[in-house]
Amino acid sequence: MGGCLSKPKPVEVKVELTLLEKEKETDVMSPNGKASPFSDGRPNGAPGHCSDEDSTPALRSHHKPHDYVEASVCHVKDLENGQMREVDLGSGRALLIKEHGEFSAIGHKCPHYGAPLVKGVLSKGHVRCPWHGACFNISTGDIEDFPGLDSLPTFQVRVEKDKVIIRANKQALQSQKRTKVMTKCSAVVNANTGFSHVLIIGAGPAGLVCAETLRQEGFTDRIVMCTMDKHQPYDRAKLSKSLESTAEHLRLRSMEFFQNHDIELLTEKEIASVDVRSKTVTFRDGLKMEYRKLFIATGSKPKPLNYKGKDVENVFYLRTPEDANNIARLVNNKNAVIVGTSFIGMEVAAALTDKAHSVSVIGIESVPFRKVLGEKVGKAIMKMFETNRVKFYMLNEVSEMRGQHGQLKEVVLKSGKVLRADVCVIGTGSIPATSFLKQSGIHMDSKGFITVSKMMQTNVDGIFAGGDIAMFPLSLRSNKKVNVPHWQMAHMHGRVAALNMMGRIVEIKTVPYFWAAMFGKSIRYAGHGEGFDDVVIQGDLDELKFVAFYTKSEEVVAVASMNYDPIVSRVAEVFGSGKGIKKRDVETGDMSWLIDKGTQ
Ligand SMILES: Cc1cc2nc3c(=O)[nH]c(=O)nc-3n(C[C@H](O)[C@H](O)[C@H](O)COP(=O)(O)OP(=O)(O)OC[C@H]3O[C@@H](n4cnc5c(N)ncnc54)[C@H](O)[C@@H]3O)c2cc1C
Ligand code: FES
Repeated sequence: MGGCLSKPKPVEVKVELTLLEKEKETDVMSPNGKASPFSDGRPNGAPGHCSDEDSTPALRSHHKPHDYVEASVCHVKDLENGQMREVDLGSGRALLIKEHGEFSAIGHKCPHYGAPLVKGVLSKGHVRCPWHGACFNISTGDIEDFPGLDSLPTFQVRVEKDKVIIRANKQALQSQKRTKVMTKCSAVVNANTGFSHVLIIGAGPAGLVCAETLRQEGFTDRIVMCTMDKHQPYDRAKLSKSLESTAEHLRLRSMEFFQNHDIELLTEKEIASVDVRSKTVTFRDGLKMEYRKLFIATGSKPKPLNYKGKDVENVFYLRTPEDANNIARLVNNKNAVIVGTSFIGMEVAAALTDKAHSVSVIGIESVPFRKVLGEKVGKAIMKMFETNRVKFYMLNEVSEMRGQHGQLKEVVLKSGKVLRADVCVIGTGSIPATSFLKQSGIHMDSKGFITVSKMMQTNVDGIFAGGDIAMFPLSLRSNKKVNVPHWQMAHMHGRVAALNMMGRIVEIKTVPYFWAAMFGKSIRYAGHGEGFDDVVIQGDLDELKFVAFYTKSEEVVAVASMNYDPIVSRVAEVFGSGKGIKKRDVETGDMSWLIDKGTQ
């Protein structure tokens, strides 16, 4: 197989001894309020490492010596600079890292979906997750790029007689995640008043991260977040992968969380219009609310498909947990037809194969994913679907949905072909949910995307926008304004908007990253491949073990992979550092250089 990365030697998980329960008497509080029992410096010359799990006041006051475990985990020479190792402390594992001669230790599992971070990419003070590209600071454990809401716990490290010793809070070792400390609202608020200092329209990842960032960064005024959904924020990206999951299973934060952090969440509240002169929004039910700062993050909605027979039942667009649950309920041993070969359509087709009697996919292109992943990759993935009993009707479109007693029975194609169908899922793209802003004066392009600056600021002072609806300058593509409708990007937009609302003047800097999952395999993708003119493939497409580099002229602009981790995260590191990758570099098949390029 061509193009294998020469990987660093695998290092085994090793426990030398689980020393303690022989605890330090009490933790000495350092002046910054963090527990730092080893604050008088470490033999390896590194400054004392503070433990963030101790930074929550509630935890701090309750931590007792027996809440901690201490273990000698390896010899100082066991790790080279730039290496990571998962180590066992008896009560749980930690990720031990050596960079620039210093050791640090953080949680070993990504708080997003639990990926082993030891298989990720260590680079310039952070580790990037191998699965979906979230980044964590190795000193603070803080999440620096997304997806995911939580950060990692950090653990104290010291070197004694050439042994590396980690001291960790047992609870933090178990949970492997840490929610950042947040302020509460200190403004006098009458919940019935129609005024909020910050009003967030939309409770998807962009809206949610905006609200959380404000509280994490010390914002103490009122925050109201409203959503048309009847649910609390949930993991929408899982809908097409796990159709049976309920809104409860997919919930991102509990109601208690919102109450504890004074983030007022209004569900089933649709905004009908925004008046930028009086700084007032009007809800569909007639209520009005004034705002000082507004963040618009209303996401996408499915692009409607034109066909005859609109009143026939059991035809779905997939947007909500109810849509997903209904599809799953109706499809057992029935004939399912998917219209559209986008990521959503294809994920649903894959998820239905073990439930439905038959699964047929109708696509307007010659192969699925051709526009995003290219012809060759699209064909390889199509073959995987065919092997799993999925029938394709490509270069085709739907003309009619025919029913019997109002229920779907047949899907008629423009070619004249008639397919038996009991359930149909339409996944033919999406449009920005911004029609309510048409008369507002907020600048939108001809397709309804809101154009924003690098600070996620619209043309109207005090109004920010982010997530799927935003056209923003992407530094990776010379600040060309682009739309990147990814879960990860929406998080980052929310964070940047919040910081700028607080006057921090922060420009967006991130590498687009997304994934899709089918038949237990994941496609990972980083960069922005729009307008690519060639694809360089290394690995084996037939085996579905490959990396594809999308190039424009002589530059690599995006990368996709299957079964080739952590190459997409590695390339994302190179892109993120501002260095380019040349087409000739990836054509050789030897990509060992990539390891250095991403970490220098
Ligand atoms: C089925 C499915 C699977 C996906 N899978 C993936 C994946 O695997 N990987 C990936 O990277 N991306 C995936 N995506 C895309 C990803 O979900 C989006 O990029 C992301 O959700 C965008 O976040 P957002 O905050 O901009 O908006 P959304 O998450 O769409 O949230 C929009 C919010 O705005 C609210 N809203 C809309 N209009 C109004 C209004 N007028 N008044 C009040 N509230 C309003 C909605 O109720 C909702 O709360 C998937 C999308 C879908 C639908
Ligand atoms: S599991 Fe780490 S980013 Fe998703």
